[in-house]
Amino acid sequence: MTDTKDAPKTSKTGSNADVAAGVAQFLTPVVHELVALAVNGKQAHWHVRGVNFIAVHELLDEVVAHAQEWADLAAERVVALGLPIDGRLATVASKSDAANPKLGFQPYEEAIADVVAQIDVAAEKVGDAVEGLEKLDPVSQDVAIEIRRGLDKDRWFLFSHISVK
Ligand SMILES: [Fe+2]
Repeated sequence: MTDTKDAPKTSKTGSNADVAAGVAQFLTPVVHELVALAVNGKQAHWHVRGVNFIAVHELLDEVVAHAQEWADLAAERVVALGLPIDGRLATVASKSDAANPKLGFQPYEEAIADVVAQIDVAAEKVGDAVEGLEKLDPVSQDVAIEIRRGLDKDRWFLFSHISVK
């Protein structure tokens, strides 16, 4: 009989606790990079300058909103499986591999390059999750795939302002 106080059964492999721990291992770095992207994306939103100001300023707010939404999606998948997540500011700052963006006003090309670089760091962690979760828990892998698809699109929308290739 199902115990309604337990986290849901998750996977065809491993115990629930093992699966949840594995999912947390892959999705926690994703949460950290997406929270960092949301914070640094706002920094870029506030300080971008140049002929494409309005387009880039507004697009960066969409990138931030997506990053927040996807951080929530990944974090809540871990929590739904019964484990906590550490999304505290100091933890994010110490765990994120993204470079600290330049301080102050930035030409739009540089602001975009900074945010694209941050997206690339996040996308790498998401890619690791897509790979690592395939056998462990396909439902969690689906979360990672959705995030990866969205990050790729945001990256395209951003870099298209600075590339004509
Ligand atoms: Fe704003």
